[in-house]
Amino acid sequence: MKDILLTILRNKDTARAEFRTAAYKLGSILAAETSQFLQKDSFSLKTPVDTANGVKLKNDCILVPILRSGILLMEPFMNYYQGAGVGFVGLRRDEETADPKLYYSNIPKVGSEDNVLVLDPMIATGGSGEAALKILLDTGIKEEKIVFVAVIAAQEGVDRIQKAFPKIKIYVAQIDPELNDKKFIVPGLGDFGDRYFGTE
Ligand code: URA
Repeated sequence: MKDILLTILRNKDTARAEFRTAAYKLGSILAAETSQFLQKDSFSLKTPVDTANGVKLKNDCILVPILRSGILLMEPFMNYYQGAGVGFVGLRRDEETADPKLYYSNIPKVGSEDNVLVLDPMIATGGSGEAALKILLDTGIKEEKIVFVAVIAAQEGVDRIQKAFPKIKIYVAQIDPELNDKKFIVPGLGDFGDRYFGTE
């Protein structure tokens, strides 16, 4: 199903309504699959017929969408990680240096064992992801408690984040081979936020 949803997202002729629905559905699949990285507790429960073994998440989760397009993964993740705190990191590209500049940050209190799920649908150069992760680590969050979730990533962006933070887990629906000279992922899907919010 992920491949079918990615096909809809990649197709330049997909209309906005269908694009949003596909983004939501794919976000839901990624939200469910991300739980494979989170520690669970086992317990015994009674079914109407007998006893069975069950599992539940051991620790709370905090979601951190990177503004703007991380917002579109927020709702599907909130549906799975109900009650999760939500923090925001807003970064914009400095026109002169091309470096990501922080313009907004609001992170809830994170317990030492809490899982932190960073949401950004596209990892291109990895520059804004790296900057956002530095901000989170500076607040005392442990690298090994972070999962970085994306829809499409360029290989070089993944390599950059993995090199900077080897203990962070990165979970991506698909990795694309390269970036073009405007730092768009190729073949990618264009600007995710613009297509989702209608600001093309
Ligand atoms: N962000 C996007 O939305 N698309 C890209 O290709 C790269 C970064």
